[in-house]
Order: sequence, then C-alpha cells, then structure tokens
Amino acid sequence: MLTTLAIANYRSLRELIVPLGPLNVITGPNGSGKSNLYRALRLLALTARGGVIPSLAREGGLQSTLWAGPERFSRAVAAGDYAVQGTVRKDAVSLKLGFAGESFGYAIDLGLPPPASTSQFSLDPVIKRECIWSGPVLRPSALLVDRQGPMIRIRGESGGSAEWSTLAQPVASFDSMMTEYADPRSAPEMIAVREQIRSWRFYDHFRTDEYASARQVQIGTHSPVLADDGANLAAALQTIREIGDGAALDAAIGDAFAGARVEIVNHEGRFEVGLRQEGLLRPLRGAELSDGTLRYLLLAAALLSPRPPALLVLDEPETSLHPDLLPSLARLIARASKQSQVLVVSHAPRLVAALEREAGSQSIVLERRLGATAFADPDTLDIPAWKWPAR
Ligand SMILES: Nc1ncnc2c1ncn2[C@@H]1O[C@H](COP(=O)(O)OP(=O)(O)OP(=O)(O)O)[C@@H](O)[C@H]1O
Ligand SMILES: [Mg+2]
Repeated sequence: MLTTLAIANYRSLRELIVPLGPLNVITGPNGSGKSNLYRALRLLALTARGGVIPSLAREGGLQSTLWAGPERFSRAVAAGDYAVQGTVRKDAVSLKLGFAGESFGYAIDLGLPPPASTSQFSLDPVIKRECIWSGPVLRPSALLVDRQGPMIRIRGESGGSAEWSTLAQPVASFDSMMTEYADPRSAPEMIAVREQIRSWRFYDHFRTDEYASARQVQIGTHSPVLADDGANLAAALQTIREIGDGAALDAAIGDAFAGARVEIVNHEGRFEVGLRQEGLLRPLRGAELSDGTLRYLLLAAALLSPRPPALLVLDEPETSLHPDLLPSLARLIARASKQSQVLVVSHAPRLVAALEREAGSQSIVLERRLGATAFADPDTLDIPAWKWPAR
C-alpha cells in the first residue's frame, strides 16, 4: 500500500506531500487541483510503461505543465500585502513526482535539456534523476537503485557492506530506468516497484455518447480488466459473471436499478451489453441505455474486476449519475477498497459523505492559496516525512 504521494512543480501542485490510506476521498472547489493530482499520479504510473515523456509533451512540454507561479513566495506576498511578481529563476527547472509505501519509495526528477542542445525535440523533458529506496523516506543509506543523468547505479551487498555497481550501458535522457533495466537478479526491487506501478488503474470520464465504444458490439474475450475507455464493457461484465463475483454484480445492479439484471447479448462471440429491466420483454441493448445507466455499468465493471489492481484511481465517478445512485456507488467503491488501495476524486456530497463513513477512509480537502494547491485543513491530516533526491 502507498503511504505517501509527493508532487512538486506540476501545474498548480507547487509542492504537495499527500498522506494516503486504504480509501482516499479527494474533494475541493473547482480549480483547486484535484484533477492535477489525478494527472500527476497517472504520469507517475506512465514512468513504468515508458510513457511519461510523450505524455508531458502532449500536455505542452515542461513549459506548460510546470508550476506557473514564483519559485517561492516572500513573506509579504504570503501575508497578502503585495502582489506576486516575476523574479529571475534561481533554481533549475524541476518537475518531481514520487511515492512511497512501507517497503519501497520511488522518485523521478524531470528537467530541461542543456541550453546548448541542438535537438529538435524541444517539448521533451529530460530525466535528470530517478531513485528507488527501501523504507518510506529517502536516506542515502537506504538507496537501492540510483540514476543520475544517463548512469544507473545498483546497490549490492558483499560481506555485509554496500557495494555499488554501475551499468555499462548509459540510458537515454527520455527513457525511465524502470523500462530500460530489467535484470531481476541484480535489482529485484526495481522489478517489484515497476510491476506494482504497472498494475495501477485509472478511470475518468467514460464516454457515453451514442458512438461510445462501450455501447458497441465488441469481440467477447475474457476481460478481467475493464479498458480505460470501457470498450470491453460487455466482456468485462461477462468475465465477472463467470470467474468473478457474479452475485456482487447482480446485487450492485439490482441495488441501483430495482429489478434490473445485466444480460450480455451474444452475437456469435461478439458481445453487446444488455440490461433486463422490469416491465420490458427483452433486455435493453447498448445503444438504448441511458448515459447514467451505462456509466453505472462501467463503474461496476471497473470496481468488481476479478483481478484487482494495487491502486485504483477514479476521477469524478459521479458524473451524470442521479444522486440516488451514489450510495450504491459508494458501496461498490468501499468493497473495492478491501482489495485495492482506492483514491476517488469527487464533487458529490452524497458520495463523499457515504465514503467518509467507511472504515479506513480518509478525506482530503484541497483549496488554492496564491494559485497553489494546498490542504484546506492540514491539521486533520498526518503529513508524512518526505525527502526529494537532489540533482
Ligand atoms: N502550469 C500551471 N501552473 C499553475 N497553475 C496551473 C497550471 N496549469 C493549470 N493550473 C491551474 O490548475 C487549476 C486546475 O486544476 P484542476 O483541473 O486540477 O481542478 P479541479 O480541482 O479538478 O477542478 P474541477 O472541480 O473543476 O474539475 C486551474 O485553476 C489552473 O489555473
Ligand atoms: Mg477536475
């Protein structure tokens, strides 16, 4: 389980160290930085899949994703006596992301290429440093794998003392060590961290318009994991029925729509989602379901996955659901949090209230102060210790 999420200089997240529990509910006004937190976590997940640099470039490169305020606020500005003014940058450009659990931590530091660089890939940031350490907080003696620029060092043990070996092959500035290095014998921690991150799952704003892939007929193959656009919804629901907790699926659907039951329509191996409802002679097909009904089915498929991820992150799952459905959604989320660590960004008071009543839940309220995302009531949170690796 993750205990700490740390972000620095990513959009409105100037520096935020977030404590995490088994079930985390993130709320706050529009523009407070909830989705930025979600995006930062997804970027972190992309490091283990080799997608962090392209994803940042798609967001406009470091120039656009970097915190747009000053490096520090003077005391007068913080007290509200003066307006924020531009200053000359003293520190190097550095966007940092990291997380830690009880056993391992990981951090990545991204910056700009050297000024003399002649490369045309001007939107590509450069990976300056990456570290994996043991325990919740980075200490020099706890470092296990350490990348500085193109060089990777790995710690081994010989005769009870640490012995560092440097990889012969330098890594490219746009490759994470997580994707470039794969020897399980010399760096088992790296493989463990990478596999953990690769299992993280993110769901936000499923499409439910008439062309949404969840409404279409799709090839039906075993799908223990719902695709992030929901394209394999029918197959995912059928997989839950066959190898997962079908009773929980029926309960969740019956709970939300009285008397309704999921019935997959099978067109010779191609599946279409169907919902049998009271008073109707045939199940309603994908194209006939209302937006909210379809979205609820998508969320149920995501939350009842027979192969639960280490971490499940949902951004505003309440979108287009009637408030009466929120208590059943909360029950599904609470159930998922028994198997996966869960982080939910939400605006819906009923969902938030229902989740807050669950054991092990923690509520994090964000707000913006001088443009930067901050905790609305830091006193209620147990902010963990965190240390960034230096360049
Ligand atoms: N590079 C940047 N530097 C500083 N702030 C930024 C930067 N990019 C975006 N922001 C700010 O981040 C905020 C957007 O945050 P975000 O999208 O996370 O909001 P939210 O809490 O999800 O809101 P909503 O409830 O509307 O979805 C905006 O107010 C925007 O001004
Ligand atoms: Mg948002």
